[in-house]
Amino acid sequence: MGITEFSREDVIFADEDVLRDSYQPDDLIERDDELAAYQHALKPVIRGKQPRNLFVYGQTGVGKSLSTNMILDQLLTDQEQYDDLDLRVVSLVCKTLTSSYQVAVRLVNEFRDPGNKLSHRGYAPGAVYEFLWEELNQLENTHVLFVLDEIDSIGTDDDLLYELPRANDNGNVTGPKIGVIGISNDFTFRDNLSARVKDSLAEEELHFPPYDANQLRRILRQRAEDAFLDDVLTDDVIPLCAAFAGQESGSARHALKLLYKAGDLARERGEPPVTEDDVRQASELIEQGRVRDELESLPTQSHITLYAVWALAEEGLTPAKRSKIYERYTEAAQEIGADVKTDRTIHDRLSQLNLKGFLDVEERNEGLRGGSYYQYELDVQSDMVKQVLAAESRTADLFE
Ligand SMILES: Nc1ncnc2c1ncn2[C@@H]1O[C@H](COP(=O)(O)OP(=O)(O)OP(=O)(O)O)[C@@H](O)[C@H]1O
Ligand SMILES: [Mg+2]
Repeated sequence: MGITEFSREDVIFADEDVLRDSYQPDDLIERDDELAAYQHALKPVIRGKQPRNLFVYGQTGVGKSLSTNMILDQLLTDQEQYDDLDLRVVSLVCKTLTSSYQVAVRLVNEFRDPGNKLSHRGYAPGAVYEFLWEELNQLENTHVLFVLDEIDSIGTDDDLLYELPRANDNGNVTGPKIGVIGISNDFTFRDNLSARVKDSLAEEELHFPPYDANQLRRILRQRAEDAFLDDVLTDDVIPLCAAFAGQESGSARHALKLLYKAGDLARERGEPPVTEDDVRQASELIEQGRVRDELESLPTQSHITLYAVWALAEEGLTPAKRSKIYERYTEAAQEIGADVKTDRTIHDRLSQLNLKGFLDVEERNEGLRGGSYYQYELDVQSDMVKQVLAAESRTADLFE
């Protein structure tokens, strides 16, 4: 067919951006209780009082970030009518920041001019907090609200989550009243917060439950109205997207992604309507994408271990015993100049790969004499394993 013309013609979407994650809808539906609780926690700000610190948690895609952004927009607007209020909101997505120190440096830099920023290394942790208090004490604002989204990425190094909410109480900040909102989708992180952080940050806790299929249906309808041209969706499309996402994740992000992908498939076909089949196919593609992302993010030693199982499978030698896999693993690791780990370590890797759903394991019993042993085989498409490993810099040479 060769190259076709790039054209603006679209037979499916009126505005596909409406389905993107970054799009902010005008109203938030299906979250009235959570919004009310959220607003309640922030009310002291409007009264000029000390904000309550708040910990917001719930699984991925349930509207935590969206609700937060919308509520803070509203708060910033509403405070303007009071002359004695001057709120500043500092929002930080902590995704790539893995310690309290890194977050603190970023916060200091929020207040500093381009020429005067802290570099990311080389200060004692205490010094960075001092810089932050200094910046805060210089502000003329009456309130500063810190929104720390995806805060779980700092792991157990949660000192900042004690220091910052306590900044007024401990006398470190005497200017503006400080409030902290921490947001997380990691339930282990919540359970493992140290007692002192629970006391200071999680003064109030707000849980966002997953959406059920009915809620997802309404959320999708609202978006679909602006996203799609009239009459391009068959009746089953939205209910099916909602049912899939409701069952698997309860995530609005997941549901939106399905609907978007289904629409995209119909557009590629060049012909409306979007059908139930498009949704099923979209669901498969998204699942494959998820598996691929997870495969890619495995550490090198797991990649080599997986390679060993893949290579045995290519030769029809799976399911294979651990000793066979270890042999093949050793050859491969030597070939690419990687450390050769012990049999025990590779056993752990195999168990992890099994837990993550990449390998199947079965127990074989050889009767009284032989005892029992485990056999492993791939539980993902071998093509995908090959593609991922051939694209990784460490393992690519194995495919030359
Ligand atoms: N009630 C809702 N109404 C409309 N859209 C929603 C609603 N809840 C979530 N969404 C949409 O779903 C997507 C995910 O929402 P959001 O980013 O708020 O999730 P989150 O809870 O912060 O997830 P994560 O933990 O992964 O950060 C966004 O595109 C958002 O616009
Ligand atoms: Mg979020």
